Amino acid sequence: MSDLRPTEAYTQIYTPPTINGDFKGKHIITVDQFSKQDLQTIFDATVSIRKRVRQNDRGLSELCNGKVMASLFFEASTRTDLSFQAAMRRLGGDVISASNGVQFSSVYKGENLADTVRAAGCYADVIALRHPQVGSSYQAAYYLDLLNQQIQNPTVVISGGDGIGEHPTQALLDLFTIYDYKKRIENLTVTMVGDLRHGRTVHSLAKLIAIYKATNTRICWVAPGMLQMPSEIIEFVKHEGIETYQTEDLFEVLGESDVIYWTRIQEERFGNIDDYDAIKDSFIMLPSVLDQAKSDAILMHPLPRKHEMGGPDDHDQLDANPRSVYFRQMENGMFVRMALLAKVLKGVYV
Ligand code: NCD
Repeated sequence: MSDLRPTEAYTQIYTPPTINGDFKGKHIITVDQFSKQDLQTIFDATVSIRKRVRQNDRGLSELCNGKVMASLFFEASTRTDLSFQAAMRRLGGDVISASNGVQFSSVYKGENLADTVRAAGCYADVIALRHPQVGSSYQAAYYLDLLNQQIQNPTVVISGGDGIGEHPTQALLDLFTIYDYKKRIENLTVTMVGDLRHGRTVHSLAKLIAIYKATNTRICWVAPGMLQMPSEIIEFVKHEGIETYQTEDLFEVLGESDVIYWTRIQEERFGNIDDYDAIKDSFIMLPSVLDQAKSDAILMHPLPRKHEMGGPDDHDQLDANPRSVYFRQMENGMFVRMALLAKVLKGVYV
C-alpha cells in the first residue's frame, strides 16, 4: 500500500478536536479528546439508550434516521465491527461496506488509506475504521477534513482501533462497564494483565481512568517484562496523579483488585514467533485463580480469548462465575456505540 507519509507521522501532523461538551461532527480517534464531563455524558446517554432498547422503544430509530455508516475494517474484528453495525441499524441508520470486504476494494489494486477513506467519505456520514497501523485514524481524519471542504456532505471517522495504538470506543465501553458494576470509578484497584505492550484496549483504558481523574484509584500492570505498558502511557497516567504499580507477579495484587482486566497475548503483533512462544503461557486465568480474587471483584476481557483463559472447561466454569462480566461488557459495547453515534451524527441528547 503506497502511503503519502509514514502513517504514524499523522499523530504529529493532526491534532484531534477536543469534545468539550459538543460531540457533533467530530472525529473520534483518541481518548485524549474527552473530558471527565464528556465521559459522564456518554455514561448517562448509554444508560438511557440501554433502557430504551430493553423497552423496544421505536423512537430510537429516529436518532440516526437517514444517516449512513461505512464500515472499513482492515484488520479482523467480530465485536467492534458487529456492534458498530448493530448500533447504527438500531438507531435507524444504514451501513455500507465493500461487497467482499475491504481487501477486495481498490485496496487490492494498491490504493492508499487516504484515498480509500475519502472514497467512503463521499458516500457515508460516518466511517468506522480499523487499521493495523498506529496513526491510521489520525491520517483518516486529516484527509477527511480536506475532503469535507470540497464535498456537500461532511463525514467523520470513528476509530475502531489503530494497530497497537489506541481503541477509544473500547475504552469507553470498558470504563462504562466498571461504572455499571461498581457505581464509581474512584477508590478502586484496577489490575490489567497480559499483553500490555501491544494491547490497544489497555492503552486507552489506562489513559481514560486518568482522564476521569479517578481519585484513590490505583492501576496495577501485570505483564512479563517485554510486554509491559509503554512508557508514554505510564507517564501520562502518573502525570494525572493516578497511582500505578508494575509487577510480573499476579498474586501480589490479585487479592486487592476490584477490577481484573485480562488480555490476550497478541500473537499477530510479534515479529518473531519464538518470542511469542516464550511468553505466551505467562498468565492464564483459571477458575482456581479467580477464586482467589475478592468476592465482589469483576473479571473483564475485551475478547477474543484464546488459551489465556485455559481450555473449554475452564472457559465454561469462568463464564458461570458471577465475577465474570465480559459478556455484559461486550453487550455494553453496542449501547456505548449507539450513544456515541447519536451524539456525533445528530448531537442529540438521549
Ligand atoms: C480487542 C482489539 O481488537 O483490540 N478486541 C476488541 O476490540 N474487542 C482485543 C484483542 O484483539 O485482543
